[in-house]
Amino acid sequence: MPEFHSLAPTPLCHLLGCRHPLILAGMGGVARAELAAAVSGFGGFGFLGMVREPLALIEREVAQVRRLTDQPFGVNLIPAGTARALLRSQVDLCIALGVTAVELFWDVDEWAIGRLRGAGITVVHQVGSARDALHAQAAGAHAVIAQGVEAGGHVWGRQPLVALLDEVLGCVGIPVAAAGGLADGHDVGRVLAQGAQAAVLGTALMATTESFAHGVHKERLVSGKAADTLLTEDFHINWPPHAAVRVLPNAVTRGERGDPFTSAPQVIGEEEGRPIYLFSTDSPLRSMTGALETMALYAGKGIDRITAIVPAAERLQGILEGAAAHLRLVGDAAQPLASPVCYAAEVQHRERAPVVAALQALLADERAWVQQLFACRAQTLDAALRQRCGAMLQVQTKACGILVRFLRALDALPDSAPSRLATELQVPWQALMDRRRGLMQQWRVVASQLDGSDALACTEMMRLHEAAMA
Ligand SMILES: Cc1cc2nc3c(=O)[nH]c(=O)nc-3n(C[C@H](O)[C@H](O)[C@H](O)COP(=O)(O)O)c2cc1C
Repeated sequence: MPEFHSLAPTPLCHLLGCRHPLILAGMGGVARAELAAAVSGFGGFGFLGMVREPLALIEREVAQVRRLTDQPFGVNLIPAGTARALLRSQVDLCIALGVTAVELFWDVDEWAIGRLRGAGITVVHQVGSARDALHAQAAGAHAVIAQGVEAGGHVWGRQPLVALLDEVLGCVGIPVAAAGGLADGHDVGRVLAQGAQAAVLGTALMATTESFAHGVHKERLVSGKAADTLLTEDFHINWPPHAAVRVLPNAVTRGERGDPFTSAPQVIGEEEGRPIYLFSTDSPLRSMTGALETMALYAGKGIDRITAIVPAAERLQGILEGAAAHLRLVGDAAQPLASPVCYAAEVQHRERAPVVAALQALLADERAWVQQLFACRAQTLDAALRQRCGAMLQVQTKACGILVRFLRALDALPDSAPSRLATELQVPWQALMDRRRGLMQQWRVVASQLDGSDALACTEMMRLHEAAMA
């Protein structure tokens, strides 16, 4: 394949052992061996969705992928949605089977991350907030996936992907992939240009011939509209409470099947002898019969760009070419549009060097500060201090996101040089606050070098910082 029709492998690709920065989301029920093998065989990275699955099924699916492809793939597990004893044996089985990577989701489970990492397995953690990304990193995850609110299925955070991705990129030092509403080459090119090291595709790969979703569900993806998708807690049986899912509307979401939280249990379908309950998190699979339309019809906000059910390789090839074209356009556009004068780009580069340096230094210090606050919050037993750290962390992660955005606008990537502060974890609280005041001075300098809405954003950030410190 000619270079210009492809995407360069990222460090995350090297970590996972794949060629293209395209990852199959570990969708429970839907991402079985046929689909995971198709994605890995194409050169992306497939995760088998094995949440709550019995060991025999995991073993069977892993063996099946290995029969279909010699490329690496992984397994997705959800500690918070799985009985403890089963989770422990699932983790042990993944280790015994020697899978390349395990993707975890929902609450950060330090035991699971530690056990897998200790056994030499690459751990990728999907998160919905910068704080959880920091937690996953501190617990030993090798990479994180930032999941935006546009995602199909269970949705942990509430931020749009574009904002969350900047915050996570600003806060952690490990590779970051992006998930949520990504369905075509333009979507994928956009998040790669933003700094993600891979795009994670759920809905777009559910709408393929190899996915294990039932045809009824696939057809609804083709005919459905993003504006119709909704976040609801109606499908809750089998999951921890207050877990929202993004679905297409049906009789349940329209309230026609009664109150999901007070109605008596009702069987609406069956999968090889297993009953499927109304209001459960099960989505319709090839192996199910019953009232399929009444089950959870998961869909992300990218469905407007899904117009047909196609083989996974065809969808991935289109995305790859579209993303490469998007990145070429973005790269090509930067220089000629900068100025009609031919050496203008060089002059601009020289002129912006001091502000880029100031932003990089501030980001390095803010990032170190985030880590100190995170550690302080995790270690303290004082509830008031914990709450204060939490509030400050929220402002702090936002600050990192803004700095990443400023740097990108100046055509500079955040650099990962450690700051002075990073080496001094466990500094006493008062010393931390004194340092904070020093950082405010850095913000003032940066604000004086920017103009328009960027300068306003700096001023607003200083106000939030001061409010959090008060
Ligand atoms: C049908 C379906 C099932 C899902 N099941 C899981 C799961 O078991 N584990 C998990 O980590 N994420 C699961 N997700 C969420 C995905 O990991 C990912 O965040 C999401 O698919 C990305 O958004 P998109 O669907 O718009 O591409 C699921 C998503 C869908 C659509």
